[in-house]
Amino acid sequence: MKIAIIGGTGNMGYGLGLRLAKANHEIVIGSRTAERAEEAAKAARALVGTSQITGAENASAAQEAELVILSVPTAGHREMVQSLRDILSHKCVLDITVPLAFKPLRYAPPLEGSNAQETAAILGEGCRVAAGFHTISATLLTDLEAPLEADALLVGNDAALKEQLLTLGREIGITVYDAGTLTLACALESQTPMLIGMNKRYGSKHIGFKMVGF
Ligand SMILES: NC(=O)c1ccc[n+]([C@@H]2O[C@H](COP(=O)([O-])OP(=O)(O)OC[C@H]3O[C@@H](n4cnc5c(N)ncnc54)[C@H](OP(=O)(O)O)[C@@H]3O)[C@@H](O)[C@H]2O)c1
Repeated sequence: MKIAIIGGTGNMGYGLGLRLAKANHEIVIGSRTAERAEEAAKAARALVGTSQITGAENASAAQEAELVILSVPTAGHREMVQSLRDILSHKCVLDITVPLAFKPLRYAPPLEGSNAQETAAILGEGCRVAAGFHTISATLLTDLEAPLEADALLVGNDAALKEQLLTLGREIGITVYDAGTLTLACALESQTPMLIGMNKRYGSKHIGFKMVGF
């Protein structure tokens, strides 16, 4: 599948892009500048050993892809989704962003309730938006030799999109569980500030979750 990553030059998007490319997907790393995107794509091609990673300015990246992953800091989230609205309303979208605020570190969601619901509100009725993978460590994603042991949760209103994303998770070595509809995205996004704090307290970089009882 051709997958664009908006903000794919950052830790989280870049790491996910590496893993998805390793699983034989075609990746377009998006950036606000084509130069940064191409630079990141060149480094990623060398790391994964594939030619299937390219770089492009965010809008061109999104235009080219079947699935678009949103991976920008929350400060740019609303503006980015608004600027790509016409393109994203025809695409499958995975929002992995987390509305973080600092000092103290906390979950600071937008009025819609979560970043994913903000995305859905901007894209409008009929959009296909899911949220998930927030608790997978960017450090682990980027280290291609490290196994991804943690599980992840996924929410969304489109059953076919969720099925596709559960498969993508399996392909990169993560067990992803369907945790319900997009209204529950706040429960997933809000785990990230907690994990950041736990990583600091326990001296780790990749504390995650394992689900039990299935
Ligand atoms: N890092 C993690 O472990 C982790 C875990 C869970 C969730 N998340 C969430 O995933 C998202 C990405 O995390 P990250 O650590 O990769 O973030 P990041 O490195 O701060 O940013 C990702 C990319 O977004 C672009 N960007 C920066 N400011 C922007 C703005 N104002 N508007 C539009 N684009 C902007 C930059 O790319 P260009 O300069 O090339 O455009 C940057 O490389 C965040 O929402 C974060 O909360 C991260």
